[in-house]
Amino acid sequence: MKTVMTIFGTRPEAVKMAPLALELSRREGLRALCCVTAQHREMLDSVLDIFRLKPDFDLNVMQPSQTLASITSRCLLGLEEVFVRAQPDLVLVHGDTSTTFAGALAAFYHQIPVGHVEAGLRTYDKLSPFPEEMNRKMTGAIADLHFCPTPANRDNLARENIRSGVFVTGNTVLDALKTTVRAEFRFTDKILNQLDYVNQKVVLVTCHRRENYGRPMANIMTALRRLADAFPDVRLVYPVHLSPVVQQAAGQYLSGHPRIHLIPPLSVDEMHNLMARCFLVMTDSGGLQEEAPALGKPVLVLRRETERPEAVEAGTVKLAGVEEEEIFRLARELLSDPAAYQQMARAANPYGDGRACRRIADAVQWHFGQLDRPPQPFAV
Ligand code: UD1
Ligand code: UDP
Repeated sequence: MKTVMTIFGTRPEAVKMAPLALELSRREGLRALCCVTAQHREMLDSVLDIFRLKPDFDLNVMQPSQTLASITSRCLLGLEEVFVRAQPDLVLVHGDTSTTFAGALAAFYHQIPVGHVEAGLRTYDKLSPFPEEMNRKMTGAIADLHFCPTPANRDNLARENIRSGVFVTGNTVLDALKTTVRAEFRFTDKILNQLDYVNQKVVLVTCHRRENYGRPMANIMTALRRLADAFPDVRLVYPVHLSPVVQQAAGQYLSGHPRIHLIPPLSVDEMHNLMARCFLVMTDSGGLQEEAPALGKPVLVLRRETERPEAVEAGTVKLAGVEEEEIFRLARELLSDPAAYQQMARAANPYGDGRACRRIADAVQWHFGQLDRPPQPFAV
């Protein structure tokens, strides 16, 4: 019996790790343990509830307006105690957050092998996304097993001479999406049930990245308000991240408009079903860039670059940047030109086929000598 511990702390890691934690717990030969750092509190708990996942350890590190150093140090110290008690044979971390890097580093300090889920994404710009690009790179430097969503992510690692222990699995977010979207879904939010998804154009917005704080966020939000002013048939729905910086900016630039709905963060099933019904997604989120293409929804990415170029190449995602005029222009085109819209509204699944968790669990068992062969790689 081998003990495999998943470690995660923020909303997106939870969405992408919960299906994997559940898959691992179904495997004979593995003792699956789950440790949450709770870098996010409410937004994490909401995901755990939806997937009915009960962590074995909870470090409860979140503090209001926490700094990067405080998250990292609190995670490092908390994990030390957890490792001493649980003695994992392998630790699995996900993606590019402070929890990810601290989880990998803490495991390294205890000489516990590390598997990195969602490995190999790169912008090659240290400051964008910040601090995620370096978190992901430093985690990759520590990891022994690398679970890349796409072949391009594997190639990025090969360029850094990381060639062994690399598996192309697809992104686990597609596994999650398979379980949440339903035609008959009813929202708990009254506004979302009352929206007319056929005759109005519902634009789903999220914006939270640290490198967008300040001027970029002001530009983005000014462009969004202009869109709501210019298009009477548009309804902007923006579930606002709980970060105080984001709350303040959304309140300042977007409140008090009859066609802009600022709402609290949605549970992940509500979010996926809203995405399935909306007209267009405008976001700086990583996860939404992967989910929306699978649902056939065009995405304007509110960033200067993306570490997820696959959907841009597939034509369902456009990089809109962080300048007001360009964001407004690209959105106006999609809202007023049906041909331009149809060109982007084609379902594409460059990030996975809903079987990533199975592949990762197979690779883990193969690593431990419990299976004869590694999983077949994900191919588009
Ligand atoms: C973090 C990740 C980012 C990821 C994002 C997903 C890092 C450095 N950043 O950024 O990569 O894209 O999560 O959302 O790891 N808060 C609450 N309740 C919650 C969650 C957050 O009140 O449930 C507030 C707290 O005041 C907290 C602040 O939001 O201090 C910021 O949270 P933090 O995890 O530091 O940064 P994010 O911007 O959420
Ligand atoms: N999400 C959610 N409710 C929201 C906003 C996002 O459930 O109100 C989900 C979204 O569907 C995706 C994940 O959270 O699965 C993305 O998280 P976020 O945008 O916070 O982080 P990122 O992906 O940018 O790191």
